[in-house]
Amino acid sequence: MSRPYFVTTPIYYANAEPHIGHTYTTVVADTLVRWHRQRGDDAWSVSGTDEHGEKLVEAAAKAGQTPELFTERMSAAFQHVWAELGIAPSRFVRTTEPAHRRNVQAILQRVHAAGWIEAREYEGLYCVGCERFLTERDMENGLCRDHERAPELRRESNYFFLMSREFGWLRGEIESGRYEIRPERYRNEALAMLRDESGLGDLSISRPKSRLAWGIELPFDREHVCYVWFDALISYLTGAGFPDDPAFAQRWANAEHLIGKDILKPHAIFWPIMLKAMGMEPPRRLSVHGYWNVDDRKVSKSLGNMVSPLAMRERYGFETFRWFLLREMSYGLDSNFTEEALVERVNADLANNVGNLVSRTLNLVEKFCDGALPPLDASVARGLEEALVAAQDSIESAMAQLQPQQALAAIVVFASEVNRFLDATKPWKLAKLPSGLNEATKILGVAGRAVAALAELLAPFLPEASARIEAKLAAAPITRGEPLFPRVELRKE
Ligand code: MSP
Repeated sequence: MSRPYFVTTPIYYANAEPHIGHTYTTVVADTLVRWHRQRGDDAWSVSGTDEHGEKLVEAAAKAGQTPELFTERMSAAFQHVWAELGIAPSRFVRTTEPAHRRNVQAILQRVHAAGWIEAREYEGLYCVGCERFLTERDMENGLCRDHERAPELRRESNYFFLMSREFGWLRGEIESGRYEIRPERYRNEALAMLRDESGLGDLSISRPKSRLAWGIELPFDREHVCYVWFDALISYLTGAGFPDDPAFAQRWANAEHLIGKDILKPHAIFWPIMLKAMGMEPPRRLSVHGYWNVDDRKVSKSLGNMVSPLAMRERYGFETFRWFLLREMSYGLDSNFTEEALVERVNADLANNVGNLVSRTLNLVEKFCDGALPPLDASVARGLEEALVAAQDSIESAMAQLQPQQALAAIVVFASEVNRFLDATKPWKLAKLPSGLNEATKILGVAGRAVAALAELLAPFLPEASARIEAKLAAAPITRGEPLFPRVELRKE
């Protein structure tokens, strides 16, 4: 029986073009799906766009468009970019689509009827960037820490989701690992939030329509729309086929959310309690990554250093960029992106090592074996078989711990071993000796199988390169052909 696996990316705010941060999470999700499918698991993935809220209204106004048209265009841009990059989430959710709106309203109705929602007057400091009221801790020198802008004093009649009832229960879920949060530091951070409840409380989940009309109406009070985070989190259920897709329950029982560290609170605290209020289980796992800086600076629109994945494809090839993202960031920690580092890294790993191995092997097979892969000779293969098993084991454990950079390091080690095997056995010399051709043929049989194994190891990480290697090996006759990874040069503008 194939095991179900379900992974989500955050649904991205439809107010900006996809940048390095979005691309990273999306690439990791795509890699996990491919990894699981390669193992025969039944993998499902969700991504999407978060299209309601004040931030979207502001951005649409700035662009001189209605929120409807603006979000339509921006969501299409996200879908276009992922398709261009060969990434296809199983389900792409727009929070403005009818199926999602129905889910949000049905859930609000259910949670309201079960006594989890209460109307209250509320006054506080509100940050439009965060789309929420801030607490002391969210501010520094009177400004929102994340958005470096001054919050506004607001008084509103709001509906509150009575989240604080369940902080004790949630602590137990996280401590027992029933809701797994990784890496450890974010689990600790979530537990610290719960210990010091002054930063939490109940959650305002409505906005008066008089001020914000762009949202999903509360089914029990049409004068209010739903708070954007309450709406957005439910997209994970919509994406999993809630309520009536027969596969929904299976998917949900195996859900893993990938997020960046800035959105820990809604995922670690709000979401499991929302699910509890619906009578549902928390997700299996929350996997939190750090931030990409670019040239040692925070990524920001004003600095213009957002790093567009399409621009990177144009300059260096997308899989080159994909390799760098996966190879450089230790999942959970911040990383720095520079094009200089990308160039250096991919030339060392891909052009000089992996690519070179593929080229020289194909070239030798073309030259000395008439372009046909010789049969495998077990006695010659032994040393490399061990190296392959070691690589497979390292990749297995790296992926179980969600450390793709360690998986890629293991692939590089394996390619180096095969390169060393060729350097040591020198089949090109042997083939020219009077009785050496037979031995050279055996060596190339082994090298060819090692390259095929390499293609398989690479498949979840660099699907296109992997398919190209496989096609080269399947060709009759095998020829060296174009290099797999030409050396790249800095093309910074
Ligand atoms: N719409 C919400 C998510 C709702 S999920 C139910 C949102 N959207 S976002 O577009 O602002 O951010 C999406 C993701 O991108 C977040 O996980 C965030 O951490 C990530 N990143 C944004 N900038 C980033 C970097 N510079 N580096 C890495 N990831 C970053 O939040």
